[in-house]
Amino acid sequence: MARYLVTGGCGFIGSHLVERLLAAGHEVTVLDDLSTGKSENLPEAAALIYGDVSDPQAMAEAMAGQDGCFHLAAIASVERSREDWARTHQVNLGGTINVFDAARHVAEQPIPVVYASSAALYGDNPAVPLSESSEPRPLTAYCVDKLACEHYARVADRIHGVPVTGFRLFNVYGPRQHPASPYSGVISLFASRILRGEPVTVFGDGELVRDFVYVGDVIQYLTAAMAQPMPGAQVFNVCTGTATSVNQLARLTAELLEKETAVTSAPPPPEGDIRVSVGDPRRLMAEFGFACDTSLRDGLRKTLKWLKTQTP
Ligand SMILES: NC(=O)c1ccc[n+]([C@@H]2O[C@H](COP(=O)([O-])OP(=O)(O)OC[C@H]3O[C@@H](n4cnc5c(N)ncnc54)[C@H](O)[C@@H]3O)[C@@H](O)[C@H]2O)c1
Repeated sequence: MARYLVTGGCGFIGSHLVERLLAAGHEVTVLDDLSTGKSENLPEAAALIYGDVSDPQAMAEAMAGQDGCFHLAAIASVERSREDWARTHQVNLGGTINVFDAARHVAEQPIPVVYASSAALYGDNPAVPLSESSEPRPLTAYCVDKLACEHYARVADRIHGVPVTGFRLFNVYGPRQHPASPYSGVISLFASRILRGEPVTVFGDGELVRDFVYVGDVIQYLTAAMAQPMPGAQVFNVCTGTATSVNQLARLTAELLEKETAVTSAPPPPEGDIRVSVGDPRRLMAEFGFACDTSLRDGLRKTLKWLKTQTP
């Protein structure tokens, strides 16, 4: 049994991680400012500190007595990073540096950190599939900050001896996902419209292609990396390698909800959108020995079951 700090533990991915850690018998403290997360996402057995990762003092205090830190807190919104550039930078990069810094000071030996990076940092690199050695081409402030977190992770490792592992998450979906999430909020939006008998709206021709990963599959890598910290500030794609278009997603969602749906088209968002984002999971599988094996159909079924309990 260990004591872990989870930043952003009241959010979508964080709350699933907290559940898994508690089920394995660990003690969990969450640091969250509840900006997008909800305290009701958190099991009672977890302790909640209401605080801000961009505050170094709050970060250092939360880290005291911990054996490791999972860092998931971020303003995970490309739109917010456009509207409020300075603040998102303060949280997404500044907060991450605070985490690494607190991890080096908290005990005699630095404690391990596992953090969420993002596949969004590949930007408009058209390679299919995208591997960890594909060139990052970040297009937005959010993506630049995520890439910078990886560079600072190497500093944390090389200069300060903090064992750090990063995961470039692709489009994670599942129960408790945020409808406003740029990654998989589309599933919530489609489902609620289909359930209300309204048409779904896709950007452009709806042939944007994504690599959807079930949240339960993501958690297993985070916990495995914490259990066996590795040197070198390594980063891994977390993806299935399977391409799904937004049109396919709309059809599958309607099929699983046993409803008919019409599809209407809207102009793409102002920052443009990446047409194809599909990851190469081979390095992940070689290191950890298991794949993201929940099929989109099964994962979507679980997600829709939860969404139905949320939709009036
Ligand atoms: N969902 C995805 O598909 C996806 C893909 C790639 C990367 N990520 C990354 O994974 C992590 C978790 O994402 P998520 O989808 O669960 O998002 P989320 O918004 O549900 O969770 C983020 C959590 O961080 C908290 N938070 C935000 N700012 C904070 C601050 N200043 N101090 C303390 N807490 C703060 C929020 O309240 C929330 O609980 C993020 O780092 C995100 O960038 C997610």
